Amino acid sequence: MDLGLKGKWALVGGASKGLGLGCATALAAEGVHVVMVARGAQALEEAAARLSSQYGVKALAVAADITTEAGREAVFSHAEGPGRDFDIVVTNAGGPPPGNFRDWDREAWIKALDANMLTPVALIQATIDGMLARGFGRIVNITSSSVKAPIDILGLSNGARSGLTGFVAGVARNPEIAAKGVTINNLLPGRFDTDRLATTLSKTAQQHNVSTDEARKIVGKTIPVGRLGDPAEFGQVCAFLCSRQAAYMTGQNILLDGGAYPGTY
Ligand SMILES: NC(=O)c1ccc[n+]([C@@H]2O[C@H](COP(=O)([O-])OP(=O)(O)OC[C@H]3O[C@@H](n4cnc5c(N)ncnc54)[C@H](OP(=O)(O)O)[C@@H]3O)[C@@H](O)[C@H]2O)c1
Repeated sequence: MDLGLKGKWALVGGASKGLGLGCATALAAEGVHVVMVARGAQALEEAAARLSSQYGVKALAVAADITTEAGREAVFSHAEGPGRDFDIVVTNAGGPPPGNFRDWDREAWIKALDANMLTPVALIQATIDGMLARGFGRIVNITSSSVKAPIDILGLSNGARSGLTGFVAGVARNPEIAAKGVTINNLLPGRFDTDRLATTLSKTAQQHNVSTDEARKIVGKTIPVGRLGDPAEFGQVCAFLCSRQAAYMTGQNILLDGGAYPGTY
């Protein structure tokens, strides 16, 4: 299926690894030019060079902290990029650390809110009017299955991401946006095999006295499909959400969790 995205420009946060890289790869495979952001330059530049040579698209690496205003300005002022005229924005950054809610002071909360709520909001504010003027836009926020099924030790994530989810639910349905070809959806990962899951895997490996590969299988068996998710398949669903075909889908929270969420709705 041709997703109708050839020649469009996408901004992808957290794009040097994991789910962000999965999204950047799937979009580049559809002929989309990508501006990829992560703080560490080396992995990011290698990933961008790979996408550019593999798919013949422009893949620009911006080594910056997307959760800061300066980082976002570095993206918008890249000499070879589209400025603020992105057709697709995939918001993503690292998740907040786990912990005990008693220990989270104001600074910890502001950091979590900055990364997982206020940065996506700022990116939407910066790019949406151009999308509306051109009559096409796709915004995909990478959130977490914990928005639907909270995880107690991830309270910073549960709280900050729920704030973003509430904001998006309203904006996406605003007729001035929804009727002008711009969709906003959230993709909710369950357990994907990325660096983010490394701690879980090493704890399981220690607990059962097995290798990391064995631990991966043990954790995988707790999920109905019997395995961890692959960042490539996450990226492909993201690319579909960005497609012309997905124009009637907006304001949704889409779980990609191998069936782990136990509810009917
Ligand atoms: N993997 C899962 O199973 C899972 C499940 C639920 C939710 N999530 C959420 O999904 C998001 C992506 O997770 P992941 O598994 O793909 O993580 P990952 O493999 O650790 O990759 C994170 C990516 O984001 C970049 N990054 C982190 N902080 C950044 C910042 N401030 N500015 C720019 N780039 C930044 C990292 O590069 P640098 O470190 O070089 O900046 C890296 O490219 C996270 O918010 C995570 O909490 C993941």
